[in-house]
Amino acid sequence: MTITTPIKEELPPGPTTHALQQLIKWTAEPLNLLEESFQKYGDPFTLRFRKNNPFVYISNPESIQEILSRDCAKFDSGRNNHILLPIVGEHSILLADGKQHARQRKLIFPPFHGEKIRHYGEIITKITQKTAKQWEDGKPFSMRPAMQQITLEVIMQAVFGISDSHRSQQLKTRLTKSLELTGGSILQSSLLFFPVFQKDFPGSPWRNFLQRQKAIHQRLQAEIEQRRHQGKVEGNDILSLLMSAEDEDGNPMSDGELRDQLITLLFAGHETTATALAWAFYWIHKLPNVRDKLLAELATVTDVSDFKSLNRLRYLHAVCMETLRIYPVAILTFPRIAKSTVTIGNYEYPPETVLAPCIYLLHQREDIYPNPKQFRPERFLEREFSPYEFMPFGGGSRRCVGDVFAPMEMKIVIATVLKQYRLALAEKKEVKPVRRGVTVAPAGGVKMVLD
Ligand code: HEM
Repeated sequence: MTITTPIKEELPPGPTTHALQQLIKWTAEPLNLLEESFQKYGDPFTLRFRKNNPFVYISNPESIQEILSRDCAKFDSGRNNHILLPIVGEHSILLADGKQHARQRKLIFPPFHGEKIRHYGEIITKITQKTAKQWEDGKPFSMRPAMQQITLEVIMQAVFGISDSHRSQQLKTRLTKSLELTGGSILQSSLLFFPVFQKDFPGSPWRNFLQRQKAIHQRLQAEIEQRRHQGKVEGNDILSLLMSAEDEDGNPMSDGELRDQLITLLFAGHETTATALAWAFYWIHKLPNVRDKLLAELATVTDVSDFKSLNRLRYLHAVCMETLRIYPVAILTFPRIAKSTVTIGNYEYPPETVLAPCIYLLHQREDIYPNPKQFRPERFLEREFSPYEFMPFGGGSRRCVGDVFAPMEMKIVIATVLKQYRLALAEKKEVKPVRRGVTVAPAGGVKMVLD
């Protein structure tokens, strides 16, 4: 006899504290809020950050698969990302839904996949070597900003091709400063989460942010105009591809659209990978056993810029995957908004319910990852995980565009550094994950020193 569980029409349980209290905790201590709620209410649970605006957090592979395998037809997502509008602009793929989203993805996805990305190996190695040369004997440095220097330069090359170094330097400085304003600390992250802080008056942090954004827009506009002027839109870089693309009616992207896609790729394409790399270096140097195994494996490769050879290294792959499992940079996929009534697991959700597949809690499940708080790359050698058990890059129709590019970049940077430098953690204390804008990153950025 099969027992069928009745479908519930109310939302899953969750904290009954005031919405503002929940929002403050979500901003300041997101992982604690997730773990406490999971322990108290199980999976799924509901958090409320505003009156009448519930978010349902889901962390079991079956329900996540139910959502992501039909997310295009049943859910919207872009319109829930409005929090990112001040950074990426109204035309960004992150904010688009439906046809518009599909069209933008069609343009952006191919340049980051297949043979095209292979030639980045040498570029990544060179940029890594240039950055690592700045590290001085005995002088501690912070790994996250060092990695951000590398990943920003790499994504700039992918997006613009080889561009004028003065102009690209200006853009890099402005982007880094702008991102610091919304992601440098919990207080700065609050700028994004609490619209009440978005006040534009002389000297206010928000005005500062707006001015930086304006400067970035002007730089990007100049880049676009210069390309048009040169008539040089046939290159392999993303800007050339976007400029030569047309929609079904033969219309090219407007300058506003171009600018917003560029800033989106620059934003999404480097912060995340820099954070993942900082975590990887933390774990590799915290656990000597991991480092020794990695060095032994790397000794079998002579050319670290050859991605094909690196891709064969199973332990390096396992270290990167375990890094993305234990503290995923994105703790949620983009939340999905039900377009009509949907049944997921034992719940029937009315239209407009926001469902948030929770990558962090999924990756912490004891039944999938025994002893989940332990960093143990071997788990990725012992078994394969389904795309709904391990999903640092989300899934479905919005799966990360950089899902191949980012791991490639991580492997090349790690291999280049480990083969040439002996590093050590500069501080013994455990590094904790903290909010950084919409992501989670190592507190203090991981201090390291040449050994
Ligand atoms: C370790 C590095 C990275 C991580 C952990 C990461 C993670 C994610 C996640 C979780 C999503 C949301 C997927 C979903 O909702 O299902 C996403 C979306 C996205 N990522 Fe990444 N990402 C990384 C690197 C990159 C890179 C290098 C690029 C640029 C090439 C990139 C571009 C994007 C874009 C454009 C989207 C939006 C896709 C859409 O809306 O259709 N990401 N990423």
